[in-house]
Amino acid sequence: MAYDTLIVEVEDYVSLIRLNRPDALNALNSKLMKELASAVQAADRDDNVRVIVLTGSEKAFAAGADVKEMAEKTFTEVYFDNLFGVEAEIIGQVRKPIIAAVSGYCLGGGCELAMLSDFIIASDTAKFGQPEINLGIVAGMGGTQRLTRFVGKSKSMDMHLTGRFMESAEAERCGLVSRVFPAKDLMTEVMKIADKIVEKSLLSSMAVKECVNRAQETTLAEGLLFERRVFHAMFATEDQKEGMAAFLEKRQPQFRDK
Ligand code: HXC
Repeated sequence: MAYDTLIVEVEDYVSLIRLNRPDALNALNSKLMKELASAVQAADRDDNVRVIVLTGSEKAFAAGADVKEMAEKTFTEVYFDNLFGVEAEIIGQVRKPIIAAVSGYCLGGGCELAMLSDFIIASDTAKFGQPEINLGIVAGMGGTQRLTRFVGKSKSMDMHLTGRFMESAEAERCGLVSRVFPAKDLMTEVMKIADKIVEKSLLSSMAVKECVNRAQETTLAEGLLFERRVFHAMFATEDQKEGMAAFLEKRQPQFRDK
């Protein structure tokens, strides 16, 4: 499927989705968000996809929601339109792993989109921020909630109240980002990470995603119970038999997602 604001390629079980509005530093407008929701849903359904990689350009992952599109909107328009609410829900409900590969500006809605992914790999040029306060608004796609869960209240307040940008070293230190690579190596390294996940049983990858996400949503006791039940359920799969047999026979497992 062809998109106006995205470049999507599927190769070796990885769907690489590249935000592509270079003139606006990949600012998220309604068209891009609709296309992105549709692209991730298509990847989630596609048997040839086991991992999704979401990226932008070297200069910008995304510099936020499109200010030109938002500037003249009224309360009732954004209220009834629920600006990006539906699209964010769709992206958040994807069941396959999503890696955000972030280089350059990752601001406002861009940072929120990266946090909607399952983990963030950044280049050493990445700059994260929630600068909505400079526009007289607040984050609207999960920033106040997700950034606080990632980095804690103090740093989240600092980011949202000052609108400052955070370099990738700080982002890695505080747990927003899982790993940092030099900009020139970012996509090669991210694809290596995606390939590692491709090798696993998709049943296990999806179960991991469900369990870890549960940790964000519920109490420790409920989360532990959920994990335990999922752990038990994995013993109903052929991939559990294959994974353990392969270990005992000292060979690589051949998972079949069954
Ligand atoms: C629309 C944007 C944009 C944005 C950049 N551009 N960010 N257009 N919306 N968020 C456009 C600029 O207008 C300009 O187009 C071109 O991209 C290049 O940007 P410059 O500003 O010239 O580049 P530079 O000087 O390098 O500065 C980069 C920057 C700055 C620091 C990232 O562009 C910036 O501060 N952008 C806004 C960041 C922001 O406030 N994001 C939060 C948005 S609110 P022209 O045509 O002028 O050349 C948000 C809410 C989400 O995200 C909630 C959703 C529900």
